[in-house]
Amino acid sequence: MNQHTNPDREARSILIANDRGGYTIPTEGLYPYQWNWDSAIAALGFAQFDLDRAWTEIETLFTGQWDDGMVPHILFHQQDEGYFPGPDVWGCNGPIPSSGIIQPPIAATMTRKIWEQDTAFGDARMKALFPKLLAWHRWIMKWRLDEFGAVCTTHPWEAGRDNAPDWDNSMARMDASDVGEYQRRDTSHVNSEDRPTKFDYDRYIKLVQIGRKAGWDQQELLTLNPFRVADPTMTFTTLRAARDLLVISEQLGLDAEGLSADIEKLETGAHSLWNEELGSFDARDAHTGEMADSVSNASYLCWYAGIESDKMLERLKTTLATVPYPVPSYDPEMPKFDARRYWRGPTWAFMNMMIGFGLQDLGHTEQADQLRQKTGDLISGFGFAEYFDPKTGSPAGGKAFTWTAAVWLHWAGRA
Ligand code: DGY
Repeated sequence: MNQHTNPDREARSILIANDRGGYTIPTEGLYPYQWNWDSAIAALGFAQFDLDRAWTEIETLFTGQWDDGMVPHILFHQQDEGYFPGPDVWGCNGPIPSSGIIQPPIAATMTRKIWEQDTAFGDARMKALFPKLLAWHRWIMKWRLDEFGAVCTTHPWEAGRDNAPDWDNSMARMDASDVGEYQRRDTSHVNSEDRPTKFDYDRYIKLVQIGRKAGWDQQELLTLNPFRVADPTMTFTTLRAARDLLVISEQLGLDAEGLSADIEKLETGAHSLWNEELGSFDARDAHTGEMADSVSNASYLCWYAGIESDKMLERLKTTLATVPYPVPSYDPEMPKFDARRYWRGPTWAFMNMMIGFGLQDLGHTEQADQLRQKTGDLISGFGFAEYFDPKTGSPAGGKAFTWTAAVWLHWAGRA
């Protein structure tokens, strides 16, 4: 274990080094653009030493918002040959070259935190952002709900958990034999054992091709897209966003018609993801109705969404007691566990922080503190990696990672 002697300073330097002027890249090389949920976390990190810069991060993200309210998962501010698939592959027509899918909508929640911290200028900046945050929320309610009120992901990249076992059955049903030749770039930056397999990658690209062919027309994609999975990440983050938007609108006297009804609908959707046999929140293929049988770190975002669950709490207590560096992205007791492969086992510090926010909000202070402490030990011991082996703590994926640095500054490093 490599003790990092001044993690506060290191974390700030990472944010500053990854700052490209108004937006922050997740890490040099592997991710050279602005990613949606990475930016929301980055903003929390900046808020610890530069509130103005924190706001700017979110404001820049919303300069890429499409006319219909959609906020893309990647904004390609400047061309970079080191990344695939770039803007020419996605073929989108937003105000900034971008991808055609979203990412879990955590921006409203993180912006609320910044607003609460910024007593001097917060109200004015929040008032300007609020209609944009609300328009994105409404877009999600219009295009991503399933019949039960759960929120669907239409690409594994959209849920942010690229190769999670949650998608395995849905991906296996897809035919990607005509995807054609393409050149991956991720495995030239980091170890291929830490990354998704070719089987998965072929399907990621195939789904981009399908979206592009449909001109990213959401109505068309409802029937054309073979991949549509209601999942805990999208559902819990959307529910939490709706709750935060409602609080902001009430406090600032802003019009937010429909939010209370959305919250009710999303609560029903969230409960519909409970898999009784598995004893966990789980993903469900929206085309077949089949549950994925996956206990992931997103399953533990229930509290973040304001949903209480004694069974998840019991499960979490066991995980905290038995896994050296929790919370693993996939249950180590389950057959597909892979300690280093991205979302099939590794621990992600920013997911821990969001789980921690939820635990704290619902009064599970002991577990929130334990998780914060353990995440702090992980980062100060092993550095600012993209993710970590949950059994050994060993760092994996990209290095000098923005959201890991932000998590340290905002949460894990604050004992
Ligand atoms: C990638 O390129 O691996 C990203 O996860 C897409 O968001």
